[in-house]
Amino acid sequence: MQTLVVVGTQWGDEGKGKITDFLALQSDLVVRYQGGNNAGHTIVLDGVKYALHSIPSGILNEQIVNVLANGMVINPKALIEELDKLKGRTFNLAISDKAHVIMPYHLELDAIKESLLSEKIGTTKKGIGPAYTDKAERIGLRMGELLDPLLFEKRLKEIIESKNKQYHLYGLNPLDTKEIYEAYMSYMNRLKPYITNTSLLINDAIKAGKKVLFEGAQGTLLCLDHGTYPFVTSSSPTAASVPLNTGVAPWLIEGAIGVTKAYTTRVGEGPMPTEIDNEIANYIREKGHEYGTTTGRPRRIGWLDLVLIKHAKLSGGLSGLAVTLLDVLSGLNELKVCIAYELDGKIIDHIPSTVSDFKRVKPIYKTLEGFNEDITTVKRFEDLPNNAKAYIKFIEAETELSIDMFSVGPDRNQTIIINKIF
Ligand code: IMP
Repeated sequence: MQTLVVVGTQWGDEGKGKITDFLALQSDLVVRYQGGNNAGHTIVLDGVKYALHSIPSGILNEQIVNVLANGMVINPKALIEELDKLKGRTFNLAISDKAHVIMPYHLELDAIKESLLSEKIGTTKKGIGPAYTDKAERIGLRMGELLDPLLFEKRLKEIIESKNKQYHLYGLNPLDTKEIYEAYMSYMNRLKPYITNTSLLINDAIKAGKKVLFEGAQGTLLCLDHGTYPFVTSSSPTAASVPLNTGVAPWLIEGAIGVTKAYTTRVGEGPMPTEIDNEIANYIREKGHEYGTTTGRPRRIGWLDLVLIKHAKLSGGLSGLAVTLLDVLSGLNELKVCIAYELDGKIIDHIPSTVSDFKRVKPIYKTLEGFNEDITTVKRFEDLPNNAKAYIKFIEAETELSIDMFSVGPDRNQTIIINKIF
């Protein structure tokens, strides 16, 4: 494949950053296509940990062009802080002139709107929802507009007038246009060299036969359309959203690898049918370091739920799977895998469209035997203990997807290829 999408099949945090970092070794471009710094990508290279939020996972490789495409929302201040952490490294970055800009009022409105909800979404409070709201309402600002100081000043003045009316209703102090203008002009001085038409850049690369990896943030169940609405993010992490969010024709996207943990995690609120809250959950949380990269929150833990993967395959498209954190399951006597749900006495193998129905589903499990061996040094599928192999084979049979890779630890050399797809 020349173009491949990396998609989360669960509620985010599937280890996509690590899989992307690995696949990026063979890529010429790595493209983030949605979301913003609500995401967290932890990459370990030579024992050094890099926590990335908006920057694509290919950034540690200086040969790769890393693109922040038009479907993203970008907080310039946070992006500069991230770039500062890469000091001393050479990198190649391109930011879409059509990507929307996260403004200070988006952060404040994110917090206040969430505080007014009786049932909280549990957002990352990075201003993602309000920034996408402004985009849809046509009162957003795009990176390219900020390159023109006069245009930016004019539009900012108008927007702030309207935001201040909203602020008044919420009892907040009015925003200071001049202060925001000056701060953003200084951010743009720093970011200006990277801003360009990234649709042209990606299309030219594809035409020239270069390899392009599209890196999804969050996961399918957090998709605004196909996720567990309203407990979702405000963009679509699916492969189906890539063409629109990057300016590339749909038929140029050749495949999508769905990343799944060997179990399930979720941060924030909302239903999670296979959630467990016992000593097994604690064991998995501690062994898998299941605390949010962006917020530090402990993640909710559950057994692997294959209904989610089937849903990701159906709604956004998957051509194969990558299973991460398989090593975390070693030491458990038995492994439960959810293969379907029961809802009102009926067996279903899809996700109900309302959250209230989704909350009521009961998982139907198949129990497999666990494994005790330390698998963190395994280099080939054949070297896995039989029960770990059986676990992988069971996922393949149930989802009718091939498992093309799996990982047994955080380092790049702990990712193992079964089928070379890219
Ligand atoms: P928002 O994206 O900050 O608006 O948050 C909406 C929902 O998506 C919340 O439940 C967040 O916890 C969740 N979320 C957003 N980004 C991520 C991520 O990268 N990993 C896991 N959950 C996320």
